[in-house]
Amino acid sequence: MHLPRAPRGLDLDWRLEDWAVYNSSGPRRVVVTRQLPGRRWLEVLLQADCKVEVCRRDEALTGHELITAVGSRCDGCIGQLTEAWGEPLFAALEAAGARVFSNYAVGYDNADLESANRHGIAVGNTPGVLTETTAEMAVSLTFAAARRIAEGDRYMREGRFRGWRPDLLLGELLWRKTVGVVGAGRVGAAYARMMVEGHKMDLLYYDLARNEALEEYVADYGRFLESAGEPPVSCRRAASLEELLREADVVSIHACLDDSTRHTIDAARLGQMKPSALLVNTSRGPLIDEEALVAHCRANPGFRAGLDVFEDEPSMKPGLGELDNVVIVPHLGSATTWTRESMALLAAYNVAGMLLGYPAWPYMDMLPFLEGGPPHATPSIVNAKQLGIPTMA
Ligand code: DGY
Repeated sequence: MHLPRAPRGLDLDWRLEDWAVYNSSGPRRVVVTRQLPGRRWLEVLLQADCKVEVCRRDEALTGHELITAVGSRCDGCIGQLTEAWGEPLFAALEAAGARVFSNYAVGYDNADLESANRHGIAVGNTPGVLTETTAEMAVSLTFAAARRIAEGDRYMREGRFRGWRPDLLLGELLWRKTVGVVGAGRVGAAYARMMVEGHKMDLLYYDLARNEALEEYVADYGRFLESAGEPPVSCRRAASLEELLREADVVSIHACLDDSTRHTIDAARLGQMKPSALLVNTSRGPLIDEEALVAHCRANPGFRAGLDVFEDEPSMKPGLGELDNVVIVPHLGSATTWTRESMALLAAYNVAGMLLGYPAWPYMDMLPFLEGGPPHATPSIVNAKQLGIPTMA
């Protein structure tokens, strides 16, 4: 490891000790805007003979600092979902000679793809390794909210427990009720299966596309239950979001964030839900109008919410943190060691693959990249088609 040379146009706030530099004579310069878990990702970049510069600072880099970090020569970059990758940054990458940016996330609403396309920058993401991890977090939040786990924890720590009582912190039984899933993609479908299989809930999902595999899965499970002498479970694609909100006892959001989905759940839609319903969000905060949610939870103490993501992260809208019927965790959906290390590996393969001229990987399955002998392909470039990047034959 060596200390980096100061980038040209040294910023006054620039602190060289904030950066770790590996393989300083490597011909391809890759900037990593935050320290990533594990070491395998770094080995991938070093094997591709990259000079890797990693920001070790605790606080996120500002837009101006990111431009400074890209500097006058940069081949690729791994960035964070907390950074806004828009026109100025993609222009800076192009000017520095870069070809690729990989988000360290499956979601890429923080990257402006039109700008990236204009500047010829391939944008990578890290799908397929967060599915069950994030679904498990959604399940955890569902039950934490339904069974008042955070309230119970506070009650104990505050020394308020004076012995068992018939009416202490009563919650909701979810067994055999209806779970509503908004967005039945990978994570939504995994969450749905966990709730259906584990808790024998009927499934109602809302998605622009039909998920036949999920429907068949639930139908097969229903037949299995019947063969064991139990009532079956059902699965139905709701004709409208309103229908799902009206009927579901639990609603879990698994949609992507874009202009069409911002505030999907607003005051009017909250009003369509059952007063005792439970709302879970592990995707992106702005899908819910958080001020409206605060007002709704205040007015309906029997309504509960479990939130992993917030509209103005890292802040919360005033009042949210004071509500007992809301369980809140700091964007931990993908926070397991395996997932975070696997995300780092995929981000590194995205950058190395593009710099080595590898074609795009055409499959959903990312596991081949996590095992020994990875394919000579770039795992996930979301604008591969727009940039004319060939697909692996
Ligand atoms: C993602 O990858 O988009 C997640 O939000 C990270 O937890």
